[in-house]
Amino acid sequence: MSDTPAILCNGIKKIYGTGDTQVHALRGVDLEVHPGELLMLVGPSGCGKTTLISIIAGILDQTEGNCSLFGQDLRQLPSTDRVRFRGKHIGFVFQAFNLIPTLTVAENTAIPLLINGENRERALARAAECLKEVGLESKIDALPSQLSGGQQQRVAIARALVHDPKLVVCDEPTSALDHQTGTKVMEILKGLAMDGKRSLVIVTHDARIFEFADRIAHMDDGHIERVEARAAKDN
Ligand SMILES: Nc1ncnc2c1ncn2[C@@H]1O[C@H](COP(=O)(O)OP(=O)(O)O)[C@@H](O)[C@H]1O
Ligand SMILES: [Mg+2]
Repeated sequence: MSDTPAILCNGIKKIYGTGDTQVHALRGVDLEVHPGELLMLVGPSGCGKTTLISIIAGILDQTEGNCSLFGQDLRQLPSTDRVRFRGKHIGFVFQAFNLIPTLTVAENTAIPLLINGENRERALARAAECLKEVGLESKIDALPSQLSGGQQQRVAIARALVHDPKLVVCDEPTSALDHQTGTKVMEILKGLAMDGKRSLVIVTHDARIFEFADRIAHMDDGHIERVEARAAKDN
């Protein structure tokens, strides 16, 4: 069971649009990510990074090829089971923190649990635990607008973890942050992968955070050109 890859992609192609306006966003991508691994996906703007992680996370359908998470091909599940699988096993962190402005920090963090049907009190208690892990216990009752960008991104990370997913997918999580705040956010993300079970895929332009990767997949024009193994920094 532990040999089952967290992510296994074979021959993934994605074409957007039809006819003259077709865009070949992915031209045949193979990728394997192991449990406990932190993989970074880097490459120029428009090379297909967001498309690839959206397919991996099951929020976008590929045109061709197969992708399995923990041995399960999401496309073979009926849509309700697919939504449930995603809600249970995957956490997302986006570039724009996507916090709901009228909800408190704790309520924002609890959203994945509430969607999964958890009782509100337990969901808020678990949210408080996760906020403590990212150093925001004092901001539990604040609104997102009362936080700095780095603090908002830490809330987004707490929200991505609150349901204890096996896979966390991040799209340029540090690009809106200054270097020091970005490093702090990366240290938190790296700590998550170090528990040995959880896998992280992080899309980034930010060469300053490469040191946190176990491997770096370099993309260009819809391909993974090479995968570089790194001696990852120990916390
Ligand atoms: N919804 C869409 N419709 C049409 N083209 C798209 C869509 N999303 C992305 N693309 C195109 O697909 C290519 C890859 O985009 P994307 O995956 O967002 O790249 P990256 O995240 O590396 O910047 C780009 O040429 C982009 O313009
Ligand atoms: Mg992108």
